[in-house]
Amino acid sequence: MKHFFLFLLLTSSLLQAGESDGKTTFETYCWGCHHQTAMAFGPPFTRIAQKRTKEEIIAYIISPKSMYKKFGYKRSVMTQFHLSNKELETISDYILSYKGKK
Ligand code: HEC
Repeated sequence: MKHFFLFLLLTSSLLQAGESDGKTTFETYCWGCHHQTAMAFGPPFTRIAQKRTKEEIIAYIISPKSMYKKFGYKRSVMTQFHLSNKELETISDYILSYKGKK
């Protein structure tokens, strides 16, 4: 719980400093189910970045229902979002920025 508040404090100060939109998009739409480095309801960004291309990530966000089988999932739980092209661009870059991180 302490860490959670620290996280909030940290992110709000980063947002004020005008941190990348990818992070804002992540916090607005994805954070409930994905964390950057830890397994949540969905897989962590570190793991996604390891095995997917930018095109695959964008395709999954646009249409999880038509992509999940190809990605090896038995069922599709992820919500479908209607993000702008810019949001898709920045969120996929944000996810890929976790490539090679732990
Ligand atoms: C309701 C919970 C939920 C939300 C919200 C959510 N996801 Fe997911 N996501 C999942 C789950 C669960 C999976 C695993 C496959 C499935 O069930 O669709 C997944 C899978 C993915 C994958 C494919 C993972 C792989 O194997 O490469 C990507 C990419 C992804 N999510 C990105 C996002 C992004 C970006 C957002 C925010 C715009 C987001 N997700 C919001 C639950 C969620």
